[in-house]
Amino acid sequence: MEEYQQITSSSSAWQRNKLTISQRFQEQLVFEDIIIKQTPHTEPPSCAIVLAKYVYKNQRQKLRGKKVIELGAGCGFTTIYLSQKLHPSKIVATDLGSVINIIKENIDLNRCEKQQVHCNELFWGNKENLQQVYECAEINNKEGEAFDLILGSDLIYDFEYFAELVQTLDSLYKFGRNEILFCFTHRFSDVERWFKEELEKKGFKIEYAKDDEFDLEFYESGKVFLIKIFKERQDQEDSSEDDDSNYS
Ligand SMILES: C[S@@+](CC[C@H](N)C(=O)[O-])C[C@H]1O[C@@H](n2cnc3c(N)ncnc32)[C@H](O)[C@@H]1O
Repeated sequence: MEEYQQITSSSSAWQRNKLTISQRFQEQLVFEDIIIKQTPHTEPPSCAIVLAKYVYKNQRQKLRGKKVIELGAGCGFTTIYLSQKLHPSKIVATDLGSVINIIKENIDLNRCEKQQVHCNELFWGNKENLQQVYECAEINNKEGEAFDLILGSDLIYDFEYFAELVQTLDSLYKFGRNEILFCFTHRFSDVERWFKEELEKKGFKIEYAKDDEFDLEFYESGKVFLIKIFKERQDQEDSSEDDDSNYS
């Protein structure tokens, strides 16, 4: 929360864009024309806003008609923002089962297009959940179809779930055909190192987005980071396809 206050109070752009934060678990967040209802289970979405604005700036021309998944979507801000601004053909917000209702409420509150915006439980590492997610996006994964963009914001904090989170990324990733973007605030260096090590076990590499790739009105260098997660060789992706034994 402290980091969040620093971000919000240090930039008048937040005020200009009508971001109103009254208290930690306020009833409502208003950002541009998006209204987000929050509960104690969802954090204020500072990373989510930086990520949404990053995608808006860098993928504006590319996302129309594409399919997007958000992992650990929380209150659903990034999904709802991108659905309204960039018009992907399908965008699926995923999270724990206990969080799905608040995402649904926010989707309804913003009158999102039902054919376009979906939400579904996806407990990281759960194969059945992942299959349902593919189905609700009308993706035939068994024929090699895939999401075009995989998003995550503020998910790098609990090392106990890193193996499952990376397993899910590995299942979703298709070499040369999709992109993974993760936005996070710096908490502990160790946590970020452990996450990177877990990624490396699956052959992933990371590259940090540069300052000029961000919408600087909504980003402060050194507080929020965005990584592109990718592989350099196709054969590393193929190895994951046989690795379903790791799933619950
Ligand atoms: C810090 S919140 C970030 C929420 C949102 N992405 C944002 O930036 O505002 C982390 C999210 O990850 C979800 N999460 C935590 N562990 C998970 C797991 N094992 N499987 C799926 N989602 C998980 C939580 O429910 C929560 O919504």
